[in-house]
Amino acid sequence: MSMQIHSIFTQAFNDQKPGTSGLRKKVKWFQQPNYLENFVQSIFDTVAVPAGASLTVGGDGRYYNRHAIQIIIRMAAANGFSRVIVGQGGILSTPAVSHIIRQYKTFGGMILSASHNPGGIDGDFGIKYNIQNGGSAPEKITEAVYAKSKTITQYRVADLTEVDIDTIGESSFETANGAFTVQVIDAVEDYANLMESLFDFPAIKTLLNSGFSMKFDAMHAVTGPYAREIFVNRLGAPENSIMNCVPSEDFAGGHPDPNLTYAEDLVKIMFAGESAPDFGAASDGDGDRNMILGKNFFVTPSDSLAVLAANATLIPAYANGIAGVARSMPTSGAVDRVAQQLNIPCYETPTGWKFFGNLMDAGKVTLCGEESFGTSSNHVREKDGLWAVLFWLNILARHYQSSGTASVQEILMKHWATYGRNVYSRHDFEGIPIEAANNVMQHIKAQFSSLPGQSFGDYVVKTCDDFSYHDSIDGSVSHNQGTRILFEDGSRIVFRLSGTGTEGATLRIYLEAFEPDTTQHHLDAQEALAKLIEIAGQLSLLTEKTGRFTPTVIT
Ligand code: G1P
Ligand code: ZN
Repeated sequence: MSMQIHSIFTQAFNDQKPGTSGLRKKVKWFQQPNYLENFVQSIFDTVAVPAGASLTVGGDGRYYNRHAIQIIIRMAAANGFSRVIVGQGGILSTPAVSHIIRQYKTFGGMILSASHNPGGIDGDFGIKYNIQNGGSAPEKITEAVYAKSKTITQYRVADLTEVDIDTIGESSFETANGAFTVQVIDAVEDYANLMESLFDFPAIKTLLNSGFSMKFDAMHAVTGPYAREIFVNRLGAPENSIMNCVPSEDFAGGHPDPNLTYAEDLVKIMFAGESAPDFGAASDGDGDRNMILGKNFFVTPSDSLAVLAANATLIPAYANGIAGVARSMPTSGAVDRVAQQLNIPCYETPTGWKFFGNLMDAGKVTLCGEESFGTSSNHVREKDGLWAVLFWLNILARHYQSSGTASVQEILMKHWATYGRNVYSRHDFEGIPIEAANNVMQHIKAQFSSLPGQSFGDYVVKTCDDFSYHDSIDGSVSHNQGTRILFEDGSRIVFRLSGTGTEGATLRIYLEAFEPDTTQHHLDAQEALAKLIEIAGQLSLLTEKTGRFTPTVIT
């Protein structure tokens, strides 16, 4: 019997504006009747689905993931797709979705995730559409989706009963337009094969068998099964080198954000003195972020990007060199120094991975990164947590091959000695009332004309502005991407409001100072940045306007 397609009348919502990375709201908000359906239909209407197209669907396994996937399958069937490819159990990490879209040439994909935000019935949910290059939809699409979502009057859905998404294989259904197939694939295999094609697995295997110890923390999130397959099954690491590797609907009550605050279990292990493992890493809810640690040592994401760029030719996939690099504006200038030395271009884009897509498609850049624990390359069009971990392990494996030792801290110290150190930190103030946060931003902007030339101790303001980005590939312009105070000596303070939060406002303060003097490189970043932190407070009147004295998270 052929399945029926129904058009259901609905009322538009006014708040379906995608943020830095898709639409994110509380689970309970998503559970309002038609809320998810309206948004999915707005996407399908915007991208004009060609007949016979296929769609990749998967998520990070958080609460509501399975339910949302069933809805998307029924709506895809009613909107002209002839195939949906879904990860087994509804699981696919964000970089895996990006890879599957590219490998199976699907007409984009849907990612169900709120990334590093907490999950569970009282937590967050999110949905994001990625285009055919595997990357997040650019602003011109997300804006059109938002416009559609405000005027939508009906959505289309097929009367399919629940489809089995747990058994690998295909289920086919008849529609008025022909067959509709749901193909359930192994969530891990294609991605693990891709990693094996990029990195020197035998060399990493040798390192991991040499007494070198590692600890990877999946934070009860999506990378668990990927980590087990890659580190334990393929690279032969002992079982105890991975932790929290069973995805949980609420991330076991945790906050799956790999930083020094939220990955506290791993941080304790890695800062346990002499007994600490040689290498530690963690990734976030949907597997696109990474944190890299050495024995009693933290690598800032900005430094990590610079080290990867400087050492890229040690990796099989990048042995012939890299075309260029890109970083988000608030990310430190450490990678700029490497690019200069390598004589390759370095692009500065707004916050959000979607701005890297055009540059990668045009072959202008190979490696990209953000200070927010995101790094990746043109192997996919998303940031990729496990890729970064493997990149580091591959660099360490090459060091072990050539010198018999492999130390993260040593690599960083040598890097700083060569290029100087961009001392860096980000201070987040979460859950501020929106009005107070806007007041702070306005107060800073109101000083734009008077600040240049003013001195704060040794720091003299050179310029200040709101960062705008001109995309050299498609000509688009993005304004208001962060408020920058730039000092004469190259130091800077950036203020920016988060575009991914779901409660109140999050104010981010990004601090950076350049330190060429090797004798100062051992200093703790907070100590080295103390004066800039004080200036940031003075310029923003943050405490006066929000009642907050200390950041919620320091990275
Ligand atoms: C944050 C990060 C940004 C990242 C995004 C998605 O966005 O700052 O770099 O691309 O999450 O992971 P924000 O909350 O700052 O808008
Ligand atoms: Zn994420």
